[in-house]
Order: sequence, then structure tokens, then C-alpha cells
Amino acid sequence: MTAITHTNRVLSGMQPTNTLHLGNYLGALKNWVAMQDRMECLYCVVDMHAITQDSGYGKRETLAASIREVAAAYIASGIDPKKSPVFNQSRVPEHAELAWVFSCVARLGWMDRMTQFKEKTGKHKERASVGLYTYPILMAADILIYQATHVPVGEDQRQHLELTRDIAQKFNNDFAAPGFFPLTEPVITGPATRVMSLRDGTKKMSKTDESDMSRINLTDDADTIASKIRKARTDPNPLPESAKGLEGRPEAENLINIYAALADEEAETVIRRFAGHQFSSFKSELAELAVAKLTPIAAEMRRLLADPAEIDRTLKDGALRARAIAAPIMDEVKRLVGFVG
Ligand code: ADP
Ligand code: TRP
Repeated sequence: MTAITHTNRVLSGMQPTNTLHLGNYLGALKNWVAMQDRMECLYCVVDMHAITQDSGYGKRETLAASIREVAAAYIASGIDPKKSPVFNQSRVPEHAELAWVFSCVARLGWMDRMTQFKEKTGKHKERASVGLYTYPILMAADILIYQATHVPVGEDQRQHLELTRDIAQKFNNDFAAPGFFPLTEPVITGPATRVMSLRDGTKKMSKTDESDMSRINLTDDADTIASKIRKARTDPNPLPESAKGLEGRPEAENLINIYAALADEEAETVIRRFAGHQFSSFKSELAELAVAKLTPIAAEMRRLLADPAEIDRTLKDGALRARAIAAPIMDEVKRLVGFVG
């Protein structure tokens, strides 16, 4: 059999847990928007991943609301759902079907290496759900059920994408289907692939950090954004003359990278412009830029969320279009595995 060449296709997703923040926007969403003009894209709200850690009767309403909120954030950031299907994962059952097959392809040794599972569970591994452990397998299925070739994400997802390639390769070998699943490329680009906490330059900005001051939420208002930037931790020195001067200064580096990503500039350009400035003046320019870029997104999210039925229609329509791609690929997987003769 000759290897198949895949046309370029992009798939990415975010979990509907808590509000999205600047790291999600600069590390992922902003790149998703840019890719729409270059390739066929699908953008998923990974609601099945969201129940790996925190679920149950009391979470039902919040989960349903978070799915709409994340979909609204995608659209408000510039994803055009007419062009790129926006849907929630659970509406396309082929994700779960393929994940089962992949859980029989992936090896325990591969899963044991996943650092994010270790970070998320800490010392309490026995109490974690099995779903949290197999989470990266479902992620591989999210991607490969569309035979996606490119996945734009932040730096923290690199290891999961390596696993996705390993699963694709082993499936193709085991079932004598060379090239059936593409070896997906991670797209980890821009000056802000790892946005750090505003309180601690060595920690990733995250939805789950207890301190709300550590992150800028996409829904924060102008005053909150400005105050979080003003209070962001820095060191006492002025901004450096060159990138080399940022060594050992993670907070300064983080703010420069955030500025560069928001302004669509190279970090070098930003460093040159602010060389020798005090943080106070740099921070007020950064706050102004962040407010100008982020508050229109929040306003558009509010407008979209005022009509939940319309968001539900968008998700349903997106799922139908996604399924039209996924179903024939799943049929072929069933044939390759031998479920159907
Ligand atoms: P969180 O880590 O805040 O829970 P998710 O795991 O849902 O966020 O991440 C969704 C997307 O946003 C992924 O592509 C991830 O790589 C990206 N992302 C998350 N946090 C950051 C960050 N601090 N900097 C850059 N990208 C990030
Ligand atoms: N694991 C990703 C995260 O925490 C979310 C995710 C699930 C994802 N499925 C995906 C990202 C498929 C890209 C492609 O951010």
C-alpha cells in the first residue's frame, strides 16, 4: 500500500473549566485565528476532558455554561464558525470511539511518562480518575479522528502531541496502514507560547491558580486589567538594553513577551523601544495595549452570551460538519481493526 498524503487540516481545543485567560489567548487562540486563512480548521470545546477532574450533579449547570462561554470566547477572538466548525467534543461520538481503540494501542509505559498527569495529581495519584490518566489518549483521538496535520497549542501541550504522533505511528504499523494517520505537527509559535503568572515569573499562568491576580481573564474589565498589570511582580532594575539582559529576570521577560504578542511584534523590537525605561512607565503602556486588545473581546463575548440559543445552534451545526469528516474516518478504522469485514 502506498502512503497517503494528507491535506492540511488544523484541530485544536480548550477545556470548558473556569474562565479563559491571557495565556490561553496568546499561546493558542490568537494563532488559531491566524490559521483560518491558511488551512481548513476545526475548533473544539473539549467538554469530555473537562469531567476528568471536577464533575458531578452540582457541576451540571456550570459545565453547560462554560461550554457556551468557551465557544463565545473562540468566536469573540475572531474564529468564524461559518468557516471553521466550532463544536463541543461530546456531540461527536467518534472522538470517544477512537479513544477506546487508541487506549488499546498506547502502552502503559508511554502514559507513565506524561508530566502533566503528575503535576495535576501531585502526591494523590490513587485518588485521580482513570479518565485523567488516559486524558492524552482522548486528546490524540480528538486530533486524529480528523486526520489533522497541524495542532496550534501552547508549549505545555508539546508532550501530549508527541504521544499523539507515537499513537498514530503505532496504529499505522500495527494495522498495516502506512500513513493512515498523519504524524501531526505541533504549531507552537509567537513570543508568548508560555505566558507566566503575574505573581511568580517561574509559574505558568493558569486557570487553576488560586490567586486571580496571577492571571488576566478574558472577561476582566479595563480597570481590573490595568490594576493586575500595575501590581504584577517585577524586579527593581530598569528594562534591559538587549534580550541577553533578560536572563535571570523571568518577570521582566514575561511582561515583554506579553507586550510583543499583543502588539504583533518581535520581543527584540519591544526590548529596543523600552530599553532603560522604568517598569512603571512600561507597565502603563502595557496596560493600555492589553485593555485595547482584550476589552473588545470581552464585550463581544457578553453580546454572544446574551443569546445562548444561538450559541447552541452554532455548536450543533459545527458538530454536524465535524461529524461528516469524522464518521468515514472511524468507519475506515473499524475496517482496519477488523470490527467490520
Ligand atoms: P490551563 O492550563 O489554564 O488550564 P488549558 O490547559 O485549558 O489551560 O489550555 C488551553 C490552551 O491554552 C492550550 O493550547 C494550552 O497550551 C494553552 N495555554 C494554557 N496556559 C497557557 C500559558 N500560560 N501560556 C501559553 N499557552 C497556554
Ligand atoms: N489538553 C489540552 C489542554 O489542556 C486540551 C485539548 C484536548 C486539546 N484535546 C485537544 C488541544 C486536541 C489540542 C488538540 O490544553
